Amino acid sequence: MRKTIIAGNWKMNKTNNETIQILNDLKKEIKEIEGISNIGVVIGTPFTALSDAVKTVENSVIKIAAQNVYPKESGAYTGEISPAMLKDIGVEYVILGHSERRDYFKESNSFINEKIKAVLSHNMSPIFCIGEHLEDREAGKVKEVITKQVKEGLANLSADEMKKVIVAYEPIWAIGTGKTATPEIAQETHEQIREVLKEMFGETSKEITIQYGGSMKPNNAKELLSQKDIDGGLIGGASLNAKDFSAIIKAAL
Ligand code: PGA
Repeated sequence: MRKTIIAGNWKMNKTNNETIQILNDLKKEIKEIEGISNIGVVIGTPFTALSDAVKTVENSVIKIAAQNVYPKESGAYTGEISPAMLKDIGVEYVILGHSERRDYFKESNSFINEKIKAVLSHNMSPIFCIGEHLEDREAGKVKEVITKQVKEGLANLSADEMKKVIVAYEPIWAIGTGKTATPEIAQETHEQIREVLKEMFGETSKEITIQYGGSMKPNNAKELLSQKDIDGGLIGGASLNAKDFSAIIKAAL
């Protein structure tokens, strides 16, 4: 059975105090899911709040993610954060390859691949994001774009390492726009992604959690999450308050 993982991506939002407040509210809202082993909850806070976020969710079902990392152990890389630094404070997941990083910061598939390996080597789980632009979809190139991102982003990983990787499919035209992919479109693309994963990693592909992201909200989560190959969500806007995010988590039950 694949694990359903509902993850929040806060992007460049929330101070340290706001983070502690929201996480405390969220813990109360989702008490009922403690002990359900097939569902995971992750929150990606800004770097500045990670340490207190980890302490706030101690002994709860919630795990903490960073939203980036630099793939070197240490050294003269002004402004960057290493995997060891994240591991040291109790971070368990790292969101990598988000379209905002690909588009605004020009991150390539091979750089993302380096980051994934660095995160795995420190025994944390990458949340590896992929997704097409609207023009790719309109040109009928979704499969081509997705295949290239998966093959290059996950190059040279073993099937065993893939057991720790989460894939997040986020059509870029649906991120922050209020335009969600229909459950059918999302399912079709998730199936294509799983086929590529099967080609690369064989039967392990069946165990890999593939999240959907892009305007997932309390009112559309259930339908999306009930699709066969959709194993969770990566949520931006609706993860910024405990009420909406907990409603999405409950939609996965
Ligand atoms: P959204 O963001 O839920 O606000 O569309 C999703 C994401 O960028 O991960």
